[in-house]
Amino acid sequence: MPHVRIDGVSKIYDSAKGPVDALRDVSLSVARGSFVSVVGPSGCGKSTLLRCLAGLEEASAGGIWVEGKKIVEPPFNMGMVFQRDALLDWRTVLENVLLPADFRRRPRKDFEAKAGALLDLFGLIGFHDRYPRELSGGMRMRVAICRALLDDPPLLLMDEPFAALDAFTRDELNIELQKLLASSGATTFFITHNISEAILLADTVVVMDRRPGKVAKVLPIELPRPRPLSARETPEFAAYGRIIRETFESLGILRSH
Ligand SMILES: Nc1ncnc2c1ncn2[C@@H]1O[C@H](COP(=O)(O)OP(=O)(O)OP(=O)(O)O)[C@@H](O)[C@H]1O
Ligand SMILES: [Mg+2]
Repeated sequence: MPHVRIDGVSKIYDSAKGPVDALRDVSLSVARGSFVSVVGPSGCGKSTLLRCLAGLEEASAGGIWVEGKKIVEPPFNMGMVFQRDALLDWRTVLENVLLPADFRRRPRKDFEAKAGALLDLFGLIGFHDRYPRELSGGMRMRVAICRALLDDPPLLLMDEPFAALDAFTRDELNIELQKLLASSGATTFFITHNISEAILLADTVVVMDRRPGKVAKVLPIELPRPRPLSARETPEFAAYGRIIRETFESLGILRSH
């Protein structure tokens, strides 16, 4: 049984200007522990798909099953990093990371060591007692990632988590994330606009077409793991990049010459 099964999901939003066709007939089966990168142009429904997976948005047609159970509300055993970091301004960095413990009504002290270790790993040593307003955009995003990872969720949903980071930090976190997931075994959906990041991290890259968002291509990435940053310089890696760019070109989304 796949860990996650997305079956014929369409999403139509009601808006003041009439219905918005955000997703059309998206289907995808994802094995446990695998990493799915989702790439596609702005507005093609990537965040919508993630919000449906998270149970925050109801599909207009079709459905999503996780471990064979249909998603009808946000489940506890899932970590989510929102495109906007969604930190609580009145809580310190550490208290923000400990939020899942409160949700689950579990004692914070059971999670404090883990929260501290995650913050340190993500370069936030010395910032545990600061408030979100005192952080840069990239630091806030890192706090949001720590929060999503706090309870080792079997399903991790990340909406452009590294978009606000500088290239060096992004590279570093690409490596750290691989290490974390290798030990946690979480199934991960990861949205990015960066094709090379999508390939480096993924077992499968899902390429989406413009609105109404549909799956244009499902591309398995068969590069050996672990993947150091230098994997990006191999001909095999470049070939995957070419396939994705050609897919965008054939959809009229990208013109590279
Ligand atoms: N709550 C909403 N009400 C009405 N329309 C919405 C709502 N949320 C999203 N949309 C529309 O649905 C479409 C898909 O939006 P979505 O945020 O999923 O795109 P995206 O692929 O994540 O884009 P980006 O790469 O810019 O983040 C867009 O046209 C957007 O305007
Ligand atoms: Mg989005």
